[in-house]
Amino acid sequence: MAQAITYTRFGGPEVLALTDVEVGDPGAGELAIRVEAAGVNPLDHKLRSGARASGEITAPRRVGSDAAGIVTSVGADVEGFRPGDAVVVAGATGAYATDLVVAARQVWLRPPAVSAPVGAALGIPAGTAYQTLRSLAVGAGDTLLVHGGSGAVGQAVIQFATLWGATVLATTSDRRAARVRALGATPLSYAEGLEERIRAAAPQGVTAAIDIAGTDEALAASLALVSDRSRIATLVRGKDADGLGIRGFMGGSPRPLSAGELAWRAEAIAVTLPLIAAGAFSVELGPSFALRDAADAHRQVEAGVDGKVVLLP
Ligand SMILES: NC(=O)c1ccc[n+]([C@@H]2O[C@H](COP(=O)([O-])OP(=O)(O)OC[C@H]3O[C@@H](n4cnc5c(N)ncnc54)[C@H](OP(=O)(O)O)[C@@H]3O)[C@@H](O)[C@H]2O)c1
Repeated sequence: MAQAITYTRFGGPEVLALTDVEVGDPGAGELAIRVEAAGVNPLDHKLRSGARASGEITAPRRVGSDAAGIVTSVGADVEGFRPGDAVVVAGATGAYATDLVVAARQVWLRPPAVSAPVGAALGIPAGTAYQTLRSLAVGAGDTLLVHGGSGAVGQAVIQFATLWGATVLATTSDRRAARVRALGATPLSYAEGLEERIRAAAPQGVTAAIDIAGTDEALAASLALVSDRSRIATLVRGKDADGLGIRGFMGGSPRPLSAGELAWRAEAIAVTLPLIAAGAFSVELGPSFALRDAADAHRQVEAGVDGKVVLLP
């Protein structure tokens, strides 16, 4: 019998329970996957606690969207996958599980150089980073300001943006400055006086900004420094974006992602896997937890942790 993490009411990490679940055979266009690792994203605990609205709970809710594993069976009309293939899953429903059935369009072949935990760390962070940079058309000639550069999304933003030729400044705790610098950005403390520090570090000016911190200071600095508001995005304060005249990509935004934005989020996985295999993109892993200890994993992520937390079923 397959097992999965579920919850039946909003609340603290203690609402998460390991439960037996039925996993049927894959239908047309689907794959069955034995999960080797599942990524834990901040969205998961925001949905669990009710901080991110998601409608009334009428049946046990599953958790998690990102995973890596092994294909166990292939549904009709699916090409390019065989049982035994190592894969990455992004955008699934209920990735905190021993087994999953997902649409083949949510699955990518995983090169041998990409471990299951690294593969499980990609979906939301790499997808969001890539889509946001593409939406803002960041590239050579840009000076990009990233608020929250040391987190999973921030690290992906820094790496794509520097690969595409942009100059990147990224806010971080002093403790994490070396990591941000190693990825190619100029680290800046997010302590008081941020705007002045940015002006000193970027006398040429800042042409685009991405908020992954959600603080008032981050939004104020972006608004003060980037003249074109269509090149400022927030991933955390989406509900404030329209009022400020900036871009909000989810993060509580009332506007769903467009088909094109969703396509970029999927494209990111196909782009990132070969970069990792070539040693040109780095994923920082944090602590791992057994599936049954998903509540502890959420406590860790909510408290703040260096690197991506993964569950190992
Ligand atoms: N809109 C979307 O589609 C979307 C997608 C993914 C994530 N998100 C949101 O983006 C946020 C980050 O996600 P994540 O997965 O990158 O989380 P994460 O890996 O847990 O990283 C969070 C980071 O926030 C940094 N931080 C804390 N206080 C800060 C401050 N005052 N100023 C700047 N940075 C600060 C921390 O840096 P230090 O450790 O250096 O202090 C940490 O590295 C979450 O709120 C998440 O829900 C939104």
